Amino acid sequence: MTPNPTDRRESFMTDAKKLFIKTYGCQMNVYDSERMAEALGASGYTVTDTPDQADMILLNTCHIREKAAEKVYSELGRLKPLKSANPDLKIGVAGCVAQAEGEEIMRRAPLVDLVVGPQTYHRLPAMERAVRAGERAVDTEFPEEDKFEHLPKGPRARRAPAAFLTVQEGCDKFCAFCVVPYTRGAEVSRPVDRVLREARDLVERGVCEITLLGQNVNAYHGAGDGGAWSLARLIREMARIDGLERIRFTTSHPNDMDDDLIAAHGDEPKLMPYLHLPVQSGSDRILKAMNRKHSAAQYLRVIERLRAARPDLLLSGDFIVGFPGETEQDFEDTMALVREVRYGQAYSFKYSARPGTPAAERADVPDDVASDRLRRLQALLTEQQRDLQAEMVGREVSVLFEKPGRLPGQMVGKSDYLHAVHVADPRAQVGQIARVRIVESAANSLRGEIAA
Ligand code: SAH
Ligand code: SF4
Ligand code: F3S
Repeated sequence: MTPNPTDRRESFMTDAKKLFIKTYGCQMNVYDSERMAEALGASGYTVTDTPDQADMILLNTCHIREKAAEKVYSELGRLKPLKSANPDLKIGVAGCVAQAEGEEIMRRAPLVDLVVGPQTYHRLPAMERAVRAGERAVDTEFPEEDKFEHLPKGPRARRAPAAFLTVQEGCDKFCAFCVVPYTRGAEVSRPVDRVLREARDLVERGVCEITLLGQNVNAYHGAGDGGAWSLARLIREMARIDGLERIRFTTSHPNDMDDDLIAAHGDEPKLMPYLHLPVQSGSDRILKAMNRKHSAAQYLRVIERLRAARPDLLLSGDFIVGFPGETEQDFEDTMALVREVRYGQAYSFKYSARPGTPAAERADVPDDVASDRLRRLQALLTEQQRDLQAEMVGREVSVLFEKPGRLPGQMVGKSDYLHAVHVADPRAQVGQIARVRIVESAANSLRGEIAA
């Protein structure tokens, strides 16, 4: 019997070069890492999860806070022995640190062969050829062409049931503390038909939950039939895709929460009742200094309208403490806002001065003061998370099972409210959505039983 084309492809795949990608930072980087793997797939690479087997290692990096950026250099230090053991190993730095510090990385870390920014990774195949030929390659342009149009289509393989889909790149908001507008460039929305095509493709490959991504995803305004489409219109159209059961989006800016998007939380059943809506501070003085362009009252009003549309909406937020000029009263205003909202989940950070941003020029709050505020804020947020989780006990939620849990026979999934839920039941299968009754709340997850 002659081997069929699939067999031949498989024997070719066993000789494939191995690619290891380590991803830092936000969900947009997670999405980009998948697309980089696809781009290099066309050059004969398959992904491995062990760096010591790799022919190429890519670090997809984050520049948002000083600690995030420092991780790159310490990780590069750890890779040195691998490179000495295997001189053919190629090492690349991608993502937001690559964009911000490309030339410096090349100077400081001679073991790096390749630096590629978030908007040029569709050029990876050509860069890979260059580094294989012994060159060092840097590409941190903001090119005219759209990287998404130049990326190869991924393999048709089935994939995990929950997927990210980037619908918007960059950011035009220029909050005074933030590097994203510099590392990711101007805000651009992908055209509607491309997004829908990618969504359908994901669903055909077994995906039933899609999270739409952008740094200001609710400002989405993609070109489509009859002019620009809002995010709400895109979500309503996606909801018509058979087999797509759950839609989420992140991250949103309070100022771009339009009427239709608020209404969709009430009338679009596939839109999940969880919303990440960062506010950063509860003090109007600090919000102004941060260039957030809204007041605490305006933020609270948006939340009130969202909750009127969807009373059980679970909210999450981001907070920065110790922003330059923050007084004890400003911080108390943040605590008061948190008490008023009650967050189901939250991320809070000590302000980190980022080179090139306007706030970096201003005098810092002393570190011990900022640390103390962070501790107090996190105590309050943890208490809220615990209380809201405890309120889930006895309730029935829908859970999408994503992977086996750590204990034998256990499955882990996500509730509609994005809680991690553990279930020990042989009926629970990856990719399945089941009604689950919550029986227990732990620190960062819930335990449930499949409802009869
Ligand atoms: N686009 C999103 C957030 C992107 S960055 C938004 O507008 O909210 C994710 C979070 O990191 C931010 O919400 C903020 O809380 C935090 N962050 C950003 N820059 C920071 C800095 N310089 N120091 C500390 N935290 C920062
Ligand atoms: Fe950064 Fe502000 Fe843009 Fe969010 S909206 S990415 S915080 S500049
Ligand atoms: Fe970090 Fe870049 Fe995301 S700086 S948070 S990886 S957009």
